[in-house]
Amino acid sequence: MHPLAVDATGGGLLALVVTAVWAMLPAYLPNNVAVVAGGGRPIDGGRTWRGRRLLGDGKTWRGTVAGIVAGAAVALLLNALRPTLAPVVGFGLPLFPTAAVLSLPAGAMLGDVVASFAKRRTGRERGAAFPVVDQLDFVAGALLLAAVAAPAWFASVFTLPVVAVVVVLTPLLHVGTNVVGYALGLKAEPW
Ligand code: CTP
Ligand code: MG
Repeated sequence: MHPLAVDATGGGLLALVVTAVWAMLPAYLPNNVAVVAGGGRPIDGGRTWRGRRLLGDGKTWRGTVAGIVAGAAVALLLNALRPTLAPVVGFGLPLFPTAAVLSLPAGAMLGDVVASFAKRRTGRERGAAFPVVDQLDFVAGALLLAAVAAPAWFASVFTLPVVAVVVVLTPLLHVGTNVVGYALGLKAEPW
């Protein structure tokens, strides 16, 4: 087993859920921070392709950079909390190597950007809902980039059961936080 691995196998469903949420927090935060921090110059600079925006005004440099910085900061915070919390929960908690600290939030933002590209190509205007893609784009991006940037760590933490929990739990958490963001007036749509 990888030295930074987590043994969630013996801990049952709770250990799986805690491991999944812990490992994905650096990928969950960027989208929410981008909503609050976003604005300014769009990444595509207003450029269009085949009559439609490349990405749209909803993908800005400020939101993207702030999201990645916030996600990396949360990974470092979890690393710092880990020695204190691991004995309390009674099972191992993942430690984020530098490659994961950066690739999880960067991959999450990248997945979101790729999804906006796909939304514009399929005729969806900024803010239009794209079910399933909206809820899992950042998960796919984060997992893919982390698998490339930190393959051994990725394989040890994101076992099949952990990935299954992530895929089931993330849309629920995502919809929940977006509804709260919408209710607070932070987000234009509840998705
Ligand atoms: N945001 C940003 N930069 C990003 C992602 C999000 O600035 N990389 C900000 C934008 O202000 C955006 C808001 O967060 O409007 C909500 O994000 P999201 O729902 O992903 O964007 P939408 O505006 O819905 O645009 P799209 O249809 O392209 O997803
Ligand atoms: Mg949206």
